[in-house]
Amino acid sequence: MLEKIIGKKSHQLSADDLRELVAGYSRVVIDFGCGDGMLPYRLAQQNPDVFYIGIDAARESLAVASAKAAKKPSRGGCANALFLCSNVLDDMPDLHGIADEIQWNFPWGSLMRALVASDANAMGNMIAASKKEADFVFYLNLYVFENDNQRTDMGLPEIDNDFVENTLRPTWKKLGIVVEETSFLPPDKLKDHPSTWAGRLIRRSGRNTLLMTGKIHHG
Ligand SMILES: C[S@@+](CC[C@H](N)C(=O)[O-])C[C@H]1O[C@@H](n2cnc3c(N)ncnc32)[C@H](O)[C@@H]1O
Repeated sequence: MLEKIIGKKSHQLSADDLRELVAGYSRVVIDFGCGDGMLPYRLAQQNPDVFYIGIDAARESLAVASAKAAKKPSRGGCANALFLCSNVLDDMPDLHGIADEIQWNFPWGSLMRALVASDANAMGNMIAASKKEADFVFYLNLYVFENDNQRTDMGLPEIDNDFVENTLRPTWKKLGIVVEETSFLPPDKLKDHPSTWAGRLIRRSGRNTLLMTGKIHHG
């Protein structure tokens, strides 16, 4: 069973119920580690034909966006946004390959470490949640990586083009996740990104962000 959040309440949702909810939408986008959920909520309002699912391990962080989405449309609600509480590094409830796109927007802490280390659970959950040939988008702010003391304290590698090309890209490829485009974006390229942490990280740190996009072919 999935744990659907509306405000401060949890509700059980089966994978079949979820499939019914997304039926008829042109695309399903899942945001892993969505934080306050404002990005999927805003995108859902802008794109009514796309269904957005925000997932975060911190139940309380989803309270505001999930309550807004559950309101009547005339009061800002949107039926095409759903919020689930789940740890995406754990044995996640099966989402049965419903996603056309998986987003990882500005992960932090264990989530960030899992992705740069190509953690089997994180990658497996991303693959299990996605359709074949689904898109993925990965934004990694490099704030912590550009401070050598902080980076080594957290046991993180140096992230540069060499690491992306010779470590991340081949490791992900073995799992069936094919990186098609990689860029190191300066802060001004992301100043209008609508996620909460994009704003915080970029305004505060002024550091670059690694953007990787590609396809999930499955292993
Ligand atoms: C820096 S915030 C980014 C939030 C959002 N994507 C944004 O751009 O505003 C990282 C989020 O990842 C969530 N997170 C960390 N570890 C997680 C895990 N194992 N499973 C699911 N969410 C996790 C945290 O609760 C936090 O909300």
